Amino acid sequence: VKVYVPCDSAALAVGADEVASALLLACAQQGLAVKIIRNGSRGLFWLEPMVEVETAAGRVAYGPVAPEDVHSLLESGFLQGKPHALCQGLTEQIPYLAKQERLTFARMGVTDPLSLEDYAAHGGWQGLQAALAISGDAVVQTVLDSGLRGRGGAAFPTGIKWKTVAVTQAAQKYVVCNADEGDSGTYSDRMTMEGDPFMLIEGMTIAAVAVGATQGYVYIRSEYPHAFATMQRAIQIAEQAGYLGSNIQGSGQAFHLEARMGAGSYVCGEETAMLESLEGKRGIVRAKPPLPAIQGLFGQPSVINNVITFASVPLILAKGADFYRHYGIGRSQGTLPFQLAGNIKFGGLVEKAFGLTLRELLYDFGGGSRSGRPIKAVQVGGPLGAYVPESDWDVMMDYESYTAKGAVLGHGGIVVHDDTANMKKLARYAMEFCAIESCGKCTPCRIGSTRGVEVIDRMTQQPEIQGALLRDLCDTMLNGSLCAMGGMTPFPVLSALNYYPADFGLPAHQNV
Ligand code: NAI
Ligand code: SF4
Repeated sequence: VKVYVPCDSAALAVGADEVASALLLACAQQGLAVKIIRNGSRGLFWLEPMVEVETAAGRVAYGPVAPEDVHSLLESGFLQGKPHALCQGLTEQIPYLAKQERLTFARMGVTDPLSLEDYAAHGGWQGLQAALAISGDAVVQTVLDSGLRGRGGAAFPTGIKWKTVAVTQAAQKYVVCNADEGDSGTYSDRMTMEGDPFMLIEGMTIAAVAVGATQGYVYIRSEYPHAFATMQRAIQIAEQAGYLGSNIQGSGQAFHLEARMGAGSYVCGEETAMLESLEGKRGIVRAKPPLPAIQGLFGQPSVINNVITFASVPLILAKGADFYRHYGIGRSQGTLPFQLAGNIKFGGLVEKAFGLTLRELLYDFGGGSRSGRPIKAVQVGGPLGAYVPESDWDVMMDYESYTAKGAVLGHGGIVVHDDTANMKKLARYAMEFCAIESCGKCTPCRIGSTRGVEVIDRMTQQPEIQGALLRDLCDTMLNGSLCAMGGMTPFPVLSALNYYPADFGLPAHQNV
């Protein structure tokens, strides 16, 4: 019998290793033949550790399983998929999963992350094969036609970026994956690296083939030791099987890939600071231009994309641009893996086509707040994203609709707060975060963030005067900062001030 116990960090944090050991021991004692496979997580975090058993009807899920549940599970016949208090039924039919449109996350939790056989049996390498059969220009055109935009947060068209690198003449080009996933409440990059690492390798290799790069790096944040280890191992396995190296699948094309540990700073996720860090220097933001696509790593043309952007590419090459374009709305094509976190009952990963609403995510998937209290504010798009008030929860979630509302989808992180949240404290936290993480290169961010904390503190005595000063400061930061760190910190601050003025001691009418 095949039994699946996730090896994703989220499952390990709540005892997945202990459950796997208890299962092995109990089965050995009872003479039961089981094969335990350590899969990725399906992303239903409230059910972790979620154990699945393969049956003739499909995989049956049990969760959340503790080591002490193992005996009662075995007694009730869970190895045959029989009922138990923890039984969630057939995994694929759990509504949270069944309602999703999993394109990028289709294999997540289904396969053994480091099994090449599993990867190939579930559609792996088809995108690379398709890419190797056509010209680099045709690969770039397919990515352009798919409408894919950067999933790290900035939503820049991926095909245009690749084209810029492809047409720039240079002896050496690079492909760099930004896996310094620093946004609060985000984990889709981590899940990908831990649960489906060959998909990222395949996407990066396709990029290399498309632009003529021979060397690549995955810059992984230091807080992700499991993802780092899995990526390193996956790169070795892919090399041994000829999917990386000097002659990829006999095509004559070379692509070497290395995993690099991040330097432990939020701003190292800013692409130019990341390049500095990769070059062995302190992670300080570079002025743009020159664009990294023209002068990037070691001054050479470099494709830099987020994990999910690269991970979206194999499917686009395998199934065609039209297949991918079919999902989504307007200029936001395809899907986004939304990540529900904070005060939410059913936190986890929800991959859906653009165009759904925040209300659907919060209630149809998330089940409302975990505390049971009314939801007050939702921060979408990481620590630099705006707080979205209830009046905007029915706005379609696509890049343009959110921009029109002064908000961002960013990397798809969603952090929920109930009505006990004090928005002034959260605005202060945004400024404080910026002050701590600022690289110090430009004045609006370096000095402005510290002044921002002080001004918010003074609002207790003089809400109106200091409130006006805070707006003025935010204006300077928005327009005068060199990168998104200082340039977007005003988003959470101003949205808190605009939509929740009472928390700042201000009357409602004068601010929105
Ligand atoms: P940006 O808009 O300056 O650039 C976006 C990308 O397009 C960059 O890679 C840039 O080099 C490239 N680009 C721009 N014009 C180009 C052209 N003509 N040809 C080729 N390439 C071109 O945005 P930036 O500063 O790179 O990213 C900011 C975003 O990062 C924010 O919107 C935020 O949501 C997100 N972010 C994500 C985090 C995460 O953990 N994933 C953390 C912090 C911020
Ligand atoms: Fe550095 Fe902040 Fe300026 Fe960005 S905005 S360059 S993080 S000081």
